[in-house]
Amino acid sequence: MNKTELQSIARAMVAPHKGLLAADESTGTIKKRFDKIQLESTEEHRRSYREMLFTTAGAAEYISGVILYDETLRQSCADGTPFPAYLAAKGIIPGIKVDAGAKPLAGVPGETITEGLDGLRERLAEYHKLGARFAKWRAVIDIGAGIPSRFAIDANAHALARYAALCQEAGIVPIVEPEVLMDGDHTIERCEEVTSLTLQSVFDALYAHGVYLEGIILKPNMVISGKKCPVQASRQQVAEATVRVLRQHVPAAVPGIAFLSGGQSEAESTEHLSLMNRLGDLPWQLSFSYGRALQASALDAWHGKPSQFAAGQRTFFKRARLNGLARTGRYEPAMEQEPA
Ligand code: 13P
Repeated sequence: MNKTELQSIARAMVAPHKGLLAADESTGTIKKRFDKIQLESTEEHRRSYREMLFTTAGAAEYISGVILYDETLRQSCADGTPFPAYLAAKGIIPGIKVDAGAKPLAGVPGETITEGLDGLRERLAEYHKLGARFAKWRAVIDIGAGIPSRFAIDANAHALARYAALCQEAGIVPIVEPEVLMDGDHTIERCEEVTSLTLQSVFDALYAHGVYLEGIILKPNMVISGKKCPVQASRQQVAEATVRVLRQHVPAAVPGIAFLSGGQSEAESTEHLSLMNRLGDLPWQLSFSYGRALQASALDAWHGKPSQFAAGQRTFFKRARLNGLARTGRYEPAMEQEPA
């Protein structure tokens, strides 16, 4: 394990004013996104959509790295430049989703385990050759009647730690993503409790597996009310609860925390990040690794039409810029009204 290199990649991923673009939707997930704009999910449409995002002028000011999907890592710009080489030349670090998705956990009804460890060492070696310098693995923890169980939390934490150790062996920085879902009618207090148990289990497992904490990025959910909870916590409450839990569980050795958006709107996820960064005196960089919250309006503006390529890029740039401002607490909701 080359600790110096891992640490320098991890730090670059959460460099000031920047964050990650999660563009690692699996073929199934991107089809759902394209369905919303009535666009067929062909390989060429998936490629041109990603090219639209990646070639946005100025994106590198606010985007430190992009999480790609296996197919995307092997695709190229229209001029033939492979995406990883194109991004690296712009100073954007290419990354790769390596998990195989959350599957039902046998013997534990209603809960899932993320698969993908078999053959992972060999896949990581290939991904490194293709240019990937960081990876992502998402564990999913659902809140509902009688769940999550301690067993499911620990099983997912164990898999995350095995993945993280294999990444570091391959010279790849692991994004460790334990996502407590915001679906359901649970309160923010319940989300705080489950997020707390989950993070404790994850850091116990990382420690047991000898993972080098200076060479990881944590990608957690924010502590937030369930979408269907009748009482919705305020944005300030979300910011305070999230930072409180992170302070309790995330060692200062971890260089950065890059949140997922998890179904929050674009404006909400940006404001939450900004409010957290205003709390000040934090031991780690607090950044973003948004999928939907960086792409939703850009996808809509592009709409699969070559004539709207530039409109899609302007919209994507605006979101990237506003999240860049949120990195130092300088985002204001009124900025949403600015033209793209
Ligand atoms: P969202 O920001 O849309 O939740 O996606 C981030 C991600 O990579 C989830 O694994």
